[in-house]
Amino acid sequence: MDWGMRNRIARMFGERSGHTVMLAVDHGYFMGPTRRLENAGATVAPLLPYADAVALTRGILRTSIPASSTTPIVLRVSGGATILQDDLSHEAITTPMKEALRLNCSAVALSVFVGAAHEHPSLVNLAQLVSEGEDTGMPVMAITAVGKELEKRDARYLALACRVSAELGAHLVKTYYCDDFSKVVEGCPVPLVVAGGPKLDSDRAALELCFNAISQGAKGIDMGRNIWQSDHPIAMMKALRAIVHERATAAEAMDVLTAEKERLGA
Ligand code: R5P
Repeated sequence: MDWGMRNRIARMFGERSGHTVMLAVDHGYFMGPTRRLENAGATVAPLLPYADAVALTRGILRTSIPASSTTPIVLRVSGGATILQDDLSHEAITTPMKEALRLNCSAVALSVFVGAAHEHPSLVNLAQLVSEGEDTGMPVMAITAVGKELEKRDARYLALACRVSAELGAHLVKTYYCDDFSKVVEGCPVPLVVAGGPKLDSDRAALELCFNAISQGAKGIDMGRNIWQSDHPIAMMKALRAIVHERATAAEAMDVLTAEKERLGA
């Protein structure tokens, strides 16, 4: 791996922990103005200081993130389908590599749809993007998307999707947490980060998900709704950071959350 690629990856992963807390705010590219992300700039601004990277599209980057920000950018470069379609897998590369370079991004991210109608083009897109990433020093993160089929989030499926992504050259893989998550980790030779998925019943449940993923080998999280749809997003960021970077348990992270809520008078 050349210096530029290593530097981009190192900027997103804590030097001491080797882990990362990425803030995902790319949902609008297929879901439109998602609840509590209607004004992305207002949602993201108070959270940026606690994020090791922020994952978004070029549109939200240009309109909603100050150019003075030093938070590494993970640029979503695939899209082309919306939740109004049954088949969410019909995506293409929507942002060229040269734009990711011009925007000073630290990584590019695209969805792969293993087992879906458009599995083939999504995997070919990944392979092609990796070749461009190798040429330019840009890490590529594959996202093992499940579309509307949330039940696909099991170890057998995710292990396959993550392994295929790594075999095609992805430098990082974003996937979902599942029972037997260590099997997914075992079969994937590149760092895995986990998404949170739809908002869970409680902040505690999201912290437990994070703890379970990290303790089974995930190198971090790339979480959205369970942070900014929480009533206490900054406290959630701090609590998640305690798990990811300090190896706190879910109970200890709950203490961080509670202390922060009290500090803010919430
Ligand atoms: C899908 O919209 C994106 O890949 C999200 O970035 C990903 O699902 C993480 O966000 P959340 O934690 O809300 O699932």
